[in-house]
Amino acid sequence: MNKWIKMYNEKLVSAEKIAKKIGSNTVCSSPIAGAESYAITEAIARRALEENLSNIKQCSLLSIRPKKIWDPRLNGKFNHVTCFTSANARKALWNNRCEFIPSFYHEIPDVWKYSVRPEVFYATVSPMDEHGYFSLGIGVSTCKSLIETAKKIYLEVNEYMPRIHGDSFIHISQVDAICECHKPLPELPSNNITDIDKIIGNYIAELVPNEATIQLGIGAIPNAAAQSLSTKKDLGIHTEMFTESMIDLIENGVVTNRKKNIHKGKSIATLALGTKRMYDFLNDNVGIEFYPVDYVNDPNIIGMHDDFISINTCIEVDLFGQVCSESLGVKHFSGVGGQVDYVRGAAKSKNGKSIIAMYSTAKNGTISKIKPILTKGSIVTTTRNEVDYIITEFGVAKLKGKTISQRAKSLINIAHPNFRDELTSAAKKMNLI
Ligand code: COA
Repeated sequence: MNKWIKMYNEKLVSAEKIAKKIGSNTVCSSPIAGAESYAITEAIARRALEENLSNIKQCSLLSIRPKKIWDPRLNGKFNHVTCFTSANARKALWNNRCEFIPSFYHEIPDVWKYSVRPEVFYATVSPMDEHGYFSLGIGVSTCKSLIETAKKIYLEVNEYMPRIHGDSFIHISQVDAICECHKPLPELPSNNITDIDKIIGNYIAELVPNEATIQLGIGAIPNAAAQSLSTKKDLGIHTEMFTESMIDLIENGVVTNRKKNIHKGKSIATLALGTKRMYDFLNDNVGIEFYPVDYVNDPNIIGMHDDFISINTCIEVDLFGQVCSESLGVKHFSGVGGQVDYVRGAAKSKNGKSIIAMYSTAKNGTISKIKPILTKGSIVTTTRNEVDYIITEFGVAKLKGKTISQRAKSLINIAHPNFRDELTSAAKKMNLI
């Protein structure tokens, strides 16, 4: 029998048996989103409830998979620490069951490694290959640093996890125990693209030259942007999250990655979240490589590409050009994620551009997302010193290199017409125009 298969069989146990190894006062960690362990984490949560364990803390990002861990009865028994919240984590944070550490995404590996220091790492991985390697699949992100930091490593093998190439593997010899849990990965369906999304997508496409390398954020606007790029040539992908819309760009020959300065011929990402179609597309696809986020999102690496275009979105922008993407006033919403990593990377890129694209209004047109000043308590995500382009369905505002009065005027021009008079009189009162 192959040595690695023998080792696999020796290390194979149930999720419950792994959970038994984790006691009170332990700091654990799980990868981002769809790559979180499911069976192990739920088994720990069950044990914490049934056996009255206390003070188990789990570090995670955008946690969406195990549901039991959010049970309010676990308060004080199984709590959370994160740098980017999902809907569940957001609610837990509002109820003091989740702690939040602000951090740029490319620095989170160091936050885990040097500040939080989780002792245990568990993750969902692809089945082992004949050489004893498991792929970390769609959740490479901060895994390497968590693996280096952990004293115990437990893997949950899932045949639905795609085998993704890159710096994305862990070897059986590094692992303390394995369980199997073959469950389809969580899916994030593509949003329907509206006429407004298409208008915004077309404005974005005007700023993307042939041979550019792109980063697309999550959501309907980046999706629409991808669709409007269908006539471009030789684009490259270097992105935080691989998204559904990138498949069409690759399959239709719009993305070739041939003109990239680094990683020629490869699409580069650090995580993925999408549909089964996307997970199948990523499986064993040598045209795509995932690397740790401290590399992929490093602004210096991003800046090595010429014509780098980053496309993200936000909650609101004020007339100074300050962008809030992570809170609704004082109320926490998400986190900085990779937004600033890409804004800074694009600024370092020769002819690079960073775009923040958004609808002009929220809440059925009742609130302008362009405000005279940010809502009291809002977190400034992208500062006015770094912001470049803001786009709404009413046009494009180029802010970088522009004076305060030019910025205010161009932002008012792309605000919804219902709010322009109000914004103009506020700008006059503030002496901006
Ligand atoms: N005032 C009041 N409410 C607002 C608002 C505003 N200015 N802007 C948005 N909202 C509300 C929406 O109506 C929505 O409420 P609902 O859930 O009740 O419908 C909610 O806030 C979320 O807004 P939405 O536009 O749907 O958010 P999203 O899911 O598209 O996420 C960000 C937008 C900015 C929160 C998200 O992109 C983010 O976290 N960005 C930071 C990280 C990042 O950019 N990473 C880049 C690499 S992927």
